[in-house]
Amino acid sequence: MRKIKSSIFCLTISFLFTFGIKIIAMESDAYNLCQSCHGKDLSGNEVLGSPSIAGMEEWYLLRQISNFKDGIRGTHDKDLMGLTMRLSVMNLNDKQKRSLSSKISLMKSKKLEQSIQGDLVTGEFVFQHCISCHGEFAEGDATISAPKLTGQNDWYIYRQLINFQKGIRGQHPEDLYGRQMMEMAEMFNEEMFRDVTAYISQIDQAPSEDR
Ligand code: HEC
Ligand code: HEC
Repeated sequence: MRKIKSSIFCLTISFLFTFGIKIIAMESDAYNLCQSCHGKDLSGNEVLGSPSIAGMEEWYLLRQISNFKDGIRGTHDKDLMGLTMRLSVMNLNDKQKRSLSSKISLMKSKKLEQSIQGDLVTGEFVFQHCISCHGEFAEGDATISAPKLTGQNDWYIYRQLINFQKGIRGQHPEDLYGRQMMEMAEMFNEEMFRDVTAYISQIDQAPSEDR
């Protein structure tokens, strides 16, 4: 599986180098390019490590696209997934970034499958440390720039927590919001990440209309 993953990864990189940069000259093409990794309905693709982005907050989308483009995210030498993303948005101009963020934020996020199991009691305990920023139901808080965590693939949440802990994400001097998360992630271990991820993804399974 590892081998298959890394060859798909190499293919993606060479595809981007040859075609990607040219393709995103036009806006509708840029959107198609997003779909090629994030999935047709933008709900993510685990093999490519691409998260669900459908229905994300517009301000968070815009910030992350800009972070990747400006090298604030996706430049750590162990962040190969981030690098593929960075190469994909490198040539977007401000207008394209804004209109893509607006369009994607209006899409509906899909109910996603749970793939990570964990101890929900420990998960709930760890989650108490997240509420002050991400909200009681992980719904996010725009006033402090913390995104919602619901509507996201559990494998992606887990991987980001590890990335923050290892400084693969959040270490850039200009990544002020990422730094906050890096400091948070230092308080826990990988098992606790698993537990809190399982806890967050079961919030998603609860029946709710307005997620
Ligand atoms: C070559 C594959 C690829 C393409 C094409 C691509 N992405 Fe990504 N994207 C990724 C990967 C992989 C990640 C996760 C990076 C990481 O692990 O930090 C990502 C992450 C993101 C994030 C961050 C999400 C978060 O939760 O922080 C946003 C936003 C995003 N992509 C938007 C876009 C948009 C908009 C486009 C189209 C212009 C696009 N992507 C095209 C692979 C891709
Ligand atoms: C001090 C405020 C704060 C606390 C506490 C906090 N976070 Fe965050 N978190 C943030 C901010 C701000 C971001 C956005 C980082 C960025 O812009 O890259 C973030 C991003 C994240 C991301 C990445 C989301 C994505 O789509 O890529 C995950 C996952 C996450 N937090 C999980 C947690 C968990 C789990 C906890 C509790 C253990 C927690 N956070 C506690 C502020 C916080």
